[in-house]
Amino acid sequence: MNSKYFLFLIITVIAGNLNITAQTREFRPGEVWRDTHGDTINAHGGGILYINNNYYWFGEKRNRHGSEGVNVYSSKDLYNWKYEGVALGQSEDTLSDIRKGCVMERPKVIYNKLTKKYVMWFHLELKGKGYSAARAAVAVSDKITGPYQFISSFRPNGNMSRDMTLFADDDGAAYQVYSSRENYDLRITKLTDDYLAATSKDTMLFSKHREAPALFKYQNKYYLITSGCTGWAPNKADLHVATSLLGPWQPVDGNPMEGPDADSTFGSQSAYIQPVAGKKGNFIFIADKWNPKDLRDSRYVWLPVQLKNNELKIEWLRSWSLDFWDTNK
Ligand code: GAL
Repeated sequence: MNSKYFLFLIITVIAGNLNITAQTREFRPGEVWRDTHGDTINAHGGGILYINNNYYWFGEKRNRHGSEGVNVYSSKDLYNWKYEGVALGQSEDTLSDIRKGCVMERPKVIYNKLTKKYVMWFHLELKGKGYSAARAAVAVSDKITGPYQFISSFRPNGNMSRDMTLFADDDGAAYQVYSSRENYDLRITKLTDDYLAATSKDTMLFSKHREAPALFKYQNKYYLITSGCTGWAPNKADLHVATSLLGPWQPVDGNPMEGPDADSTFGSQSAYIQPVAGKKGNFIFIADKWNPKDLRDSRYVWLPVQLKNNELKIEWLRSWSLDFWDTNK
């Protein structure tokens, strides 16, 4: 064996044992994305919370076809993610709403300053009932990475609730945006002060058969991206803007996506929009490229949101990094 090859072998073995994965400094939408341990990231339909100088990515833990709860990863730089474990698993208790075999989708976590608790909402489908339960579910934890304690599941104000997101506004009020009435209506409900329940302040944003809501606020304007309702298959995204969360929401003509496969949102479906900490106006569009043959292998599409003269576009990029906004002013 020559000495160069021997050295290479030694380094490979040591790196393997220490589970070292090379640090990455770029996003590669649609490609396999590994955590710092070298395992494929399993956090679909997710959302991110930035707190104490760390990003926490919560997402659906999937096996081939089913659902296994909510995973959480942490990162300081948005590129490299450390697996923190299962934030909320499925219950062994056969009487629990989240018993094994249920479906937990699109989890989002926000922090409640009054109660000092982390509050998770997600879309829950009960075991063996397909997508007919259409409920919102709430769990809570003192520690961001969990374990979260399941509180309850319900239909907000009696309305069906499937795809959903949470939004905490600057004044501390938080809202759930949810697809209702067999996904024909997109609704919003204000949460109680402890974020554990929906209030009766609940209104329809629009009735256009849209789902997968992803929302952000910039310069006192709210931007909402949604998808059509075609199950796991991708479709064209839509943008609405408003100056009040409760509406009215104005549709913006045209497709906010640009580039090859823009009409299928680059083969993906919106999940969340994450502000880059400390960088005003820098937002990341986060979407899922679902693989219904093996949901674990659904990929992530992260792309920079480009805002110019009050217009929003999201362009396809094969790879990019966080200096994108500085170099594309
Ligand atoms: C989509 C939805 C996904 C998942 C899927 C199941 O419409 O956005 O979150 O529920 O249907 O078919």
